[in-house]
Amino acid sequence: MNQFACEVRAGLNKPQKELPSKYLYDDLGSALFDAITVLPEYGLTRADSRLLHRLAPELPRDFSSVAEFGSGSGLKTRPVLSALSPQTYFPIDVSHAALERCRRELAGLSDIQPIQASYIDGLDCMNRRRDAQPILLLFLGSSIGNFDSPCRDIFLRQARARMKPGDAMLIGFDLEKQVEKMLDAYDDATGVTAAFNLNLLARINREIGGDFKLHAFAHQAIYNADERRIEMHLRSRIEQTVTIAAAEFGCHFREDETIWTESSHKFDADELPEIARANGYEPEAQWIDEEWPFAENLWRAA
Ligand SMILES: C[S@@+](CC[C@H](N)C(=O)[O-])C[C@H]1O[C@@H](n2cnc3c(N)ncnc32)[C@H](O)[C@@H]1O
Repeated sequence: MNQFACEVRAGLNKPQKELPSKYLYDDLGSALFDAITVLPEYGLTRADSRLLHRLAPELPRDFSSVAEFGSGSGLKTRPVLSALSPQTYFPIDVSHAALERCRRELAGLSDIQPIQASYIDGLDCMNRRRDAQPILLLFLGSSIGNFDSPCRDIFLRQARARMKPGDAMLIGFDLEKQVEKMLDAYDDATGVTAAFNLNLLARINREIGGDFKLHAFAHQAIYNADERRIEMHLRSRIEQTVTIAAAEFGCHFREDETIWTESSHKFDADELPEIARANGYEPEAQWIDEEWPFAENLWRAA
């Protein structure tokens, strides 16, 4: 059984059914995410872009290379590469389509060496190719918010353990704002985010022989105030059973039962230096967008 089928089966066997969010990004999912970034409701990407244009000239100039976790299309990365002119840029992403677009968007700004892998595997691969000079790791767009806090700290420590003295991370965090504004960003009126979420079921049908009927599921975004996160779910509109051939698995759904597909945790700017120090980083600078509260942070390997 392949890894996708194994993880789908394990996730759908949990009491709260869930699917790993990295599987949202096949070719179609990556294209739908790019569409999300230009939705009027999704201010996050525009805020991050404004900050990156503002902070890029202020970044230290001692990095010979840049690597990026979950680069996506790389559109937002342009001002950073333009300012630093790194010898090599290593975009790390699970999505082949995203890496191809990234290579096209940033052509000419650096020697681009895409790595199709999950974050930490990609970092290991990059470390085998890098030179001894300091490197800047980018983790933009608040993708760090997809982890719950124990997994976030494990991820930050795993990355830190692979960094060398002088390396740094530029990391974005979406900040708490009015609940309605946060909900709209993950449940837009045109239904692009719904399509992005439902595509995960379509991907299971395409790649591992699922028979999900997409009309029998509805996109749902909720704000979990206790955990300070937006949760995306797929709600079964009816009682039904779905089979997934390659996972040798049949899955029963009660009416209104949900599959939890992604979390997006929200933060307070004041808690970020403590998160840095607790995981082995020294916070060096912070930039905040006031229009759509969002923070970019430069953390040095302590
Ligand atoms: C929310 S998008 C962000 C893209 C871009 N960094 C931005 O800020 O607009 C997340 C990106 O990370 C990739 N991704 C998600 N989970 C991943 C994982 N575990 N390892 C590597 N890439 C991942 C996805 O394919 C997607 O391109």
